[in-house]
Amino acid sequence: MQIYYVNGSFEHKSDALISVEDRGFNFSDGVYEVIGFKNKKLLNFNKHVDRLKRSLFNLQIKSPYKNFKSLELIITRLIEINKLCGGFIYLQITRGNAKRDHLFPVNVNPNVVIFAFPQKDLSGISKGVKVGISEDIRWMRCDVKSISLLPNLLEKQKAYEKGFFEIWQIRNKFITEGSTSNAFIIDKLGNIITHPKNNLILGGVTRDVVIEIAKLNGIKVFEKPFSLADIKKCNEAFLTSTTVGVIPVKQVNNIKINSKKKGEITSFLSEKYDNFLNLQINE
Ligand code: PDD
Repeated sequence: MQIYYVNGSFEHKSDALISVEDRGFNFSDGVYEVIGFKNKKLLNFNKHVDRLKRSLFNLQIKSPYKNFKSLELIITRLIEINKLCGGFIYLQITRGNAKRDHLFPVNVNPNVVIFAFPQKDLSGISKGVKVGISEDIRWMRCDVKSISLLPNLLEKQKAYEKGFFEIWQIRNKFITEGSTSNAFIIDKLGNIITHPKNNLILGGVTRDVVIEIAKLNGIKVFEKPFSLADIKKCNEAFLTSTTVGVIPVKQVNNIKINSKKKGEITSFLSEKYDNFLNLQINE
């Protein structure tokens, strides 16, 4: 049986209901987070909460929580009720219910929906994936983790139909990020290059952790945009997200990544990232 959390109660899926006047349903007027858990422990929770607070603030959605400790307790309870050990939490907060009007309603309470979903089998991708490229057709506030994901879905679907796992989006000749992940290359000197955290990308929690790990281990990280020409010259490439971790990229469009070092920096980061998560389980 799968139990969902909706606005204060834990409900069986068929009873977990949201109003047709939910602003998320009518306008995509909401934000979300995807948070991993392992051995019933939430992973990188504080980083996800920090981003969630920023997303709510940027869209001027009232926070349902004064103290985010209560959110942690709700999620932990949901994991217990569903008798789960590992997987992911989807958390969605919308502005609330109101008659359809583009202007923000006054005095509405946000709607909160939380449910868990399992880890997909990563065995087919852990050794490396192919990514396509496309124009970045998204808005100029990609830093907000908005539930409005249509451009991402359209591009990911197109990529999938062409046999790619992910799509790397290009704005003004530079790669911004994937449709569901952040994009990285490693140059000939072993330096990591990734788009800076600004309004053109979603600042991934995995991205932040991987950058911290790299720096701690003496690997230089340049947060600057990179182009297709840079990809042609790079030694390694990888992508990151909460749901897949660190995944090597072996081909970008028709460019085969020239991995003379057999992706050793990517493997190192991937292993260290897993260790970082495992440390949180034993905390
Ligand atoms: N997506 N960029 C985009 C556009 C994303 O949608 C995601 C994550 C990331 C990586 O962020 P993080 O490391 O915090 O997961 C970057 C989630 C997993 C999703 O929509 O399912």
